[in-house]
Amino acid sequence: MKHIRSISEIGKAGVLAIVERAKQMSEINSRPVPKVPALRGKTVVSLFLEDSTRTRLSFETAAKRLSAETMNFSVSTSSVNKGESLRDTIETISDMGVDAFVVRHKSSGIPWQIEQWTDASIINAGDGAHQHPTQALVDCFTVSEAFGVDSFEGLTISIVGDIRHSRVARSNVEAFAMLGAKVIIVAPSTLLPPDVGHWPVTISNDIDDVIGTTDILYMLRLQSERMDQGLIPNLSEYGNRFGLTEKRVSQLPLNARIMHPGPMNRGVEMQVDPSHLSQSLIHRQVANGVSVRMAVLFTALTLNDDRDHAIQGLSKEAAQ
Ligand code: NCD
Repeated sequence: MKHIRSISEIGKAGVLAIVERAKQMSEINSRPVPKVPALRGKTVVSLFLEDSTRTRLSFETAAKRLSAETMNFSVSTSSVNKGESLRDTIETISDMGVDAFVVRHKSSGIPWQIEQWTDASIINAGDGAHQHPTQALVDCFTVSEAFGVDSFEGLTISIVGDIRHSRVARSNVEAFAMLGAKVIIVAPSTLLPPDVGHWPVTISNDIDDVIGTTDILYMLRLQSERMDQGLIPNLSEYGNRFGLTEKRVSQLPLNARIMHPGPMNRGVEMQVDPSHLSQSLIHRQVANGVSVRMAVLFTALTLNDDRDHAIQGLSKEAAQ
């Protein structure tokens, strides 16, 4: 797997392999010195043309823990501000000798376009409302860790909120369904994607109908920056109908868990402080972000020829 761009390209076997590899990375992260030489000599560029906190920092941390060199591209101080095109930017950085681009961009499909301009691996860190495969991998790993399962057969996962604008929803629905979960999406009809009829999901427009039977309640941020028309009456009515309140938390089944990819809109979809909720997996999602992105970089950057050598680089002995 040279490129990590969408869940369908990765496929079920690929998802399971990365989740499995992430367990090994998580063991490395629990060591007093969480660093191994597995990607020594490789260079990873972060090319974020849209804002990010957790995805960007977790990729950077992941690359460093595997001993890769990192290059950080910041739009505000780059020649993009002088009008340089994305193609020229990619070709210029490629000429310096890089092995992977971690790309976030507001347009869907950019990771496939970039492939034409470089020989490096392309890792999709979010393209428009299209895909965010590494978030889905983080979430599969987190569910697998919390429930102690590899197959999600028998689990009901309800994804609630702004499905229409969410690349996380698109990637997660595919990945969760691939691993066998029953997926319900809960949203007002204005926030459903036009092609939802083809998704492997059940649709509801009432969170209270699903809350009592859901194992994982996955809340999404209302993405006001991607809305060009009034799709909801107002924030407070949206929050009352689709937000997570104390009452709704109390209606969840005993072993149910709550997830959110961040950033959260407190007082809108999150009307409770999740730090006080024993059911919350939100901190695990962030922590697991580093291990899973280590697994992603390792998978993309060690093709058959150097994999055996790199795998030795994961061991404790090699770290010393
Ligand atoms: C998400 C994103 O950027 O797609 N955040 C993330 O990567 N953790 C979700 C969002 O912006 O709401």
